[in-house]
Amino acid sequence: MAHAVVLGSAAGGGFPQWNSNAPACRRARRGDAAARVRSQASLAVSANDGDWVVLNASPDLRSQVEATLCLQPREGLRSSPIAGVVLTGGDVDAIAGLLHLRERHRFAVYGPSRVLAIIAANPIFDVLASDCVRRVVLPLDERIELAGASGACGLAVVAFAVPGKVPLYLETTGQDPGLSEEGDAVGLEIIETTTGKSLFFIPGCAAMTDELRRRLASSALVFFDGTLWRDDEMIRLGVGSKTGRRMGHMSMSGEDGTIAAFRNLGVGRRIFIHINNSNPALLDDSPERRMANAAGWEIAYDGMEVTL
Ligand code: MLT
Ligand code: MN
Repeated sequence: MAHAVVLGSAAGGGFPQWNSNAPACRRARRGDAAARVRSQASLAVSANDGDWVVLNASPDLRSQVEATLCLQPREGLRSSPIAGVVLTGGDVDAIAGLLHLRERHRFAVYGPSRVLAIIAANPIFDVLASDCVRRVVLPLDERIELAGASGACGLAVVAFAVPGKVPLYLETTGQDPGLSEEGDAVGLEIIETTTGKSLFFIPGCAAMTDELRRRLASSALVFFDGTLWRDDEMIRLGVGSKTGRRMGHMSMSGEDGTIAAFRNLGVGRRIFIHINNSNPALLDDSPERRMANAAGWEIAYDGMEVTL
C-alpha cells in the first residue's frame, strides 16, 4: 500500500524562521506544544517501502532524512532509499535541498522543463553529476512512471500547470511578472500503479481554475498550498510588503480563498502544507485553526503519515 510522510510542512523559511521575532515564532522557539516547529515543505512517497520519492528538495532535506527512518541508508557503506526527487517549481525552498544529495548516489530528478532549465543554468547543481543523477523532463499532463533502484517503483506522476510565479530570484526587473500558467509552478498527481489510487501535491497555487477544479473533483487526498490565512497577512503584520497573490499563493480564508474554493469539490481528505510562519492556522490553539478544521481541512505537521 502506498504511503506518504510529510518531511516538512512549513513554507519557505520554516517555522520558526531564522530572523523572525514574531510572537508565533517565539512560541515555537520556547517549545510551546501548540506552536510546533516545522521544516520547509516536502513529502516522501513510496509504494514498496524500498524506493522513496521525495516531492521537492527543501533546504531542510538533510535533517528531514535524519528525522525519517525510512529515508535512511539500509545497505552497504553508502546507500539511500531515495530513488527520485520530483520538483514542483524552482523556488529556493523546492530545489536548494538538491545540494544535500551530492555524493554520487544514483537517483533521478524529475521536473517540468522550465524548472529543469533553471537547474541546468546554475552550475552549482552540477554537484549532482549527470552520470549519477538523471534529469527527467515531465511533459505537462502526461503520465510518467517513476524509477526505483531496480526497475519501476510502483509510482507514476502527472505534472500539471497551476497558476503561479517564476521564482522570486528570477524577478529581475522588480516589476510584477504576473501569473504564469505555463509550468513555472506545477501540481503533481502521484499514482500507485497497481491500484490507481493517487494523491495530489500542490504546495504553490495562485488561483483555483476550472481546469484545476475538474482535476481535483472527487479525488481522495490533496495536499494544498496553505501559505497564508489572509491575502494581506504579511502587510498587516508588518513583516512584508506583498500580498499572497503577488507571491503566487491563494490564501486559506476569504471569498477567493482555498477553503471556499474546495467547498463543493468532494475531495476526501484535504491537508494544508507549505504554511507560512505568519499564518495563525499553524498554531494548534488559534481560532483560525478551528475554522480550518471545521471546514474539513487538516494542517500538515512534520512526520505526519498518510496512506493512499
Ligand atoms: C514561495 O513559496 O513563494 C517562495 O518559496 C518564496 C521564497 O522564495 O522565499
Ligand atoms: Mn515556497
